[in-house]
Amino acid sequence: MDTLVSLCKRRGFIFQSSEIYGGTGSCWDYGPLGVELKQSIKRIWWRDYVQKRADMVGLDASILMHPTVWKASGHVDNFTDPMVDCLECRRRFRADKVDETPWVHYCAATKGNKFTIPPGEPCTHCGERRTLCPECGKGQLTAPRQFNLMFKTFMGPVEEDAALTYLRPETAQGIFVNFDNVAQSMRRKLPFGIAQIGKAFRNEITPGNFIFRTREFEQMEIEFFVNPRETVEGKPADEYWHERWITDSLAWFRRYGLREENLRLREHEKDELAHYAKRTADVEYRFPIGWSELMGIANRTDFDLKQHAQYSGKALTYFDEERKEHVVPYVIEPSAGVDRALLAFLADAYQEEEVRGEKRVVLRFHPELAPIKVAVLPLLKKRDDIVRTAHAIRDTLSTHWSVVYDDTAAIGRLYRRQDEVGTPYCVTVDVQTVGDSDKGESADGKVTIRDRDSMEQARVPIAALPTVFLDLLGGGSWSAVASRYPGART
Ligand code: GAP
Repeated sequence: MDTLVSLCKRRGFIFQSSEIYGGTGSCWDYGPLGVELKQSIKRIWWRDYVQKRADMVGLDASILMHPTVWKASGHVDNFTDPMVDCLECRRRFRADKVDETPWVHYCAATKGNKFTIPPGEPCTHCGERRTLCPECGKGQLTAPRQFNLMFKTFMGPVEEDAALTYLRPETAQGIFVNFDNVAQSMRRKLPFGIAQIGKAFRNEITPGNFIFRTREFEQMEIEFFVNPRETVEGKPADEYWHERWITDSLAWFRRYGLREENLRLREHEKDELAHYAKRTADVEYRFPIGWSELMGIANRTDFDLKQHAQYSGKALTYFDEERKEHVVPYVIEPSAGVDRALLAFLADAYQEEEVRGEKRVVLRFHPELAPIKVAVLPLLKKRDDIVRTAHAIRDTLSTHWSVVYDDTAAIGRLYRRQDEVGTPYCVTVDVQTVGDSDKGESADGKVTIRDRDSMEQARVPIAALPTVFLDLLGGGSWSAVASRYPGART
C-alpha cells in the first residue's frame, strides 16, 4: 500500500487533502491523473449499465434531502457502529474491530512485563483478554456505545433543531424517493433499474488504508426494481435478478482487468445482514490490506418503498397490468464504491519488472481505464519541425481521447514515465517522420507507436493514427496492428 500511496502522490494521482496545513485525516484529493482515472471508471460504468441497457435509466439526486428520509430509511435509528474510547489517550475505536489487531499488555503475572498479544487471543501468562487500548496499551476501554455515522448539518442560517438534516450516507435513498417520478415520467415497466453516481458521507470511527475507507467517498449504485409476484426461469423474480446482478458485477470487474485470483464472493451471514436485506453478497477484492469488500449486492425487498410510502403518505406502488393489482416492487441493489474500485484497479495494474537490468514500474491498466491514452513524444526537441508535427498529432488525437505531449526528458525516460502512469501507447515523432533536408532525406510521414505491455513498436503513417487508435483503444489487438504496419524497430 505504501508503494501505491507514494506512486499516487509522485505521479499526480492522489494527494492528501489540505496537505499544506498538515492534512485532513482520511480525506484525499484526486490530482490530474487521478481525476482522469476516476472519470474513466464512472464513464464505463455508466455506459455499460445505463447507456447500453434498455432496462436502466439514470438519476442525479441532491445530497441534502428531507430529514424524514433518514428516519424512514432506518438510518437515524440503525446506521450506527459500536464505539469504545480509551480513557488514557482518548483515541476511539470500533468495538467490533478492536480485537482484530494485536494488543499491548503489561502483564501483572510477570511483574508488569510488556507483551504484544496476537489479535483476539488472551495473555498466555495471566489469561486476561484485551481491556486496554490497542494503541497506547495503557488506558482502559469504555463499554461500547452506539455512534451514528451520519454527518449532521443545518439547512438555513439558524442552527435550530427544525433545520437539522444530514449529508447522505448512501446515494440509494435519492433513488427510492424518486421511484414514482421516474416510473411515471419514463413510462417504465418492471423490471427496470435506476442508476446513480454521487458522493456519500459517513463519519467513520476508524477511517484509513488510503482511499479504502474515507469519510467522503463516491458510490455507483443501482436500484433494480422487480415484481415479486413474478417468476423467472422457475425462481421468484427477486432471487433470479439477484443472481444475475452478482454474476454481472463480477464479470464487469474482470472485464476491466481485475484478476480472477484477486476476486471472490462472500455471502453475508444471517446475523450480519443489514436491517433491510433478505440476502447480501459482497464482491471482495484482495487489496494490499487483505481480502475486503469492493461492492455489495443486496436484496432490499420492498423495505425502502414501503417505509417511504408510510412516512410520506404517498403510494409507491406499481400497477401490474396482467394481474390487475398494485404491487410494491422488490429491489436488488448492486452498490459499488468508486474510490474502492479505483484502488482495486490500481493495485491490480501495478507491476514491477526488470528490463535490460533496470527496474520498470508499469501500471497495466485496461486501455479504457488508463488516465492518458496516448503520449506524443518528439525524439529531438531542438527540431522545430519534429515538435510542430508532434503537437499537431496531439491536437488531432485529443479530439477523441486524453492525449499528452511531453518533451521534458530523453525518449527512454519518457517511455518509463508513461509506463508508470499506465499509458497504453506512445507515439514518437523522429527525423524520418519529417525528413532531413540537410542530408537530402525526405519525410516518410510515419511515426513509431510503442505498446506499453510488450514494449514492441510499429511504424504507422500519421494519417492512419486515428483509425489505428480507434481499433487499439476499442479492444483491438496489438499484434494485429504490428503485423499490419511492419518496419517496426525494436
Ligand atoms: N446503499 C448500500 C450501501 O451503501 P454499503 O455496503 O454500505 O452499501 C456500498 O456501501 C459500497 O460503498 C461499499 O461496497 C464500498 O465500496 C463503498 N463504501 C462504503 N463505505 C465507504 C467508505 N467509508 N469509504 C469508501 N468507500 C465506501
